[in-house]
Amino acid sequence: MVPAAGRGERLGPGAPKALRELGGVPLLVHAVRALARSRAVGLVVVAAPAEGVAEVIALLDSHGLDGKDIRVVAGGDTRQESVRLGLAAIPAEVGIVLVHDAARPLVPVEVVDAVAAAVRAGAEAVVPAVPLADTVKLVEPQSGGRPEPVLDTPDRSALRAVQTPQGFRRDVLAAAHERALTEPVAVTDDAGLVERFGGRVVVVPGHEEAFKVTRPLDLVLAEAVLARRRA
Ligand code: CTP
Ligand code: MG
Repeated sequence: MVPAAGRGERLGPGAPKALRELGGVPLLVHAVRALARSRAVGLVVVAAPAEGVAEVIALLDSHGLDGKDIRVVAGGDTRQESVRLGLAAIPAEVGIVLVHDAARPLVPVEVVDAVAAAVRAGAEAVVPAVPLADTVKLVEPQSGGRPEPVLDTPDRSALRAVQTPQGFRRDVLAAAHERALTEPVAVTDDAGLVERFGGRVVVVPGHEEAFKVTRPLDLVLAEAVLARRRA
């Protein structure tokens, strides 16, 4: 399932981020293609911006993605809501779900395969992740750009930057999203929900090209990666 209903405020003014282009093709089309390339994926459900459902259906059609079963639903106001709405559109007999950000257009198929394989092998929640390049500090946030006191420096060797697709046993992911409706938790990914409610999440190797297009510089990098792949 592909959450694609965000506005992309950090990328700056323009169309919703999933519809912004990379190499002349919308980010969403890249992301859906990246998933569809995996033999583990049989159905892709996209959560589109609520006012853009018809446009997204037409877009996916026009890019010849009809080989796989693709469905489009209206997303919600938050990523969590978009994922919950997307999950509800997945047929009951589907037992394993991967959740992949439309904003990660260049994820290699090997990552998709590895996540799916780890769930198939018995894990209830799997996230791809990479080691950090930067040292990370826990600070006490201050307003108005004042210097922020450092509270701690976690051991970098035990930290990972988490990517998508994240893979789940469908029942575990659906239960976590249901529970979050009445017990809100401040997490920014699906595995975070599972973890908060006592589930066991494991990490498999991610890939540097699975980075998320968040700010304008990320789009510059994505164009360069795509150009290198096409060379
Ligand atoms: N997303 C979604 N529904 C929302 C918000 C986000 O489906 N209400 C999706 C985005 O489309 C994106 C993914 O979740 O594919 C990751 O979110 P993020 O990178 O934060 O994208 P945006 O929310 O669009 O960007 P920003 O936070 O800068 O506005
Ligand atoms: Mg966002």
